[in-house]
Amino acid sequence: MVKLDTKIVAFHKVTSAHYNLLLTADPSKEIVDSYLDRAYKFELINCGKLLGVILLIDTRPKTVEIVNIAVDESVQNQGLGEKLLHFALNWAKEQHYSTVEIGTGSTSFAQLYLYQKCGFRVTNIDRNFFVDNYPEPIIENKLVLKDMIRLKKSII
Ligand code: ACO
Repeated sequence: MVKLDTKIVAFHKVTSAHYNLLLTADPSKEIVDSYLDRAYKFELINCGKLLGVILLIDTRPKTVEIVNIAVDESVQNQGLGEKLLHFALNWAKEQHYSTVEIGTGSTSFAQLYLYQKCGFRVTNIDRNFFVDNYPEPIIENKLVLKDMIRLKKSII
């Protein structure tokens, strides 16, 4: 179990440890690089060790999108992902955003569970998003990933 002295703080300098985590959420370095510079970046640290990241970008007025969330595999399923999501929702509220969006693969069952548990609702499907935007097929939960499920949560 992870000790309870975890903290979530903003970071600006991206290290290889950050990259390793970011690439578990999004296997395309090109796509990660496309949002990295302009993203609001937060890291979850436990006893000086990097255990998680969450990145958000501005999309439309008063809307911010969580474009990347990742927790170190060794400490998954211990509530840290939920902690990062609640942090991001609180941060967005403090910054006066009204909507937080997130997208994930249609085959990402655990992620879809977690996001809906945190109050996100499905809004639409980007059909063939992963076929059209990724050079290699992505296999997840024994399925070829094709479609992106988009969800959002109102925070007003
Ligand atoms: N089906 C349904 N629920 C599942 C499954 C499954 N196959 N596997 C695990 N769960 C549940 C767990 O039981 C837990 O729920 P509970 O607390 O109600 O019991 C929940 O999923 C996981 O919650 P946390 O422990 O808070 O989350 P965790 O710390 O594991 O982080 C995360 C979740 C960030 C998705 C992590 O698994 C991860 O880093 N995965 C790899 C990267 C990734 O896929 N990132 C998201 C991509 S989409 C995006 O970035 C916008």
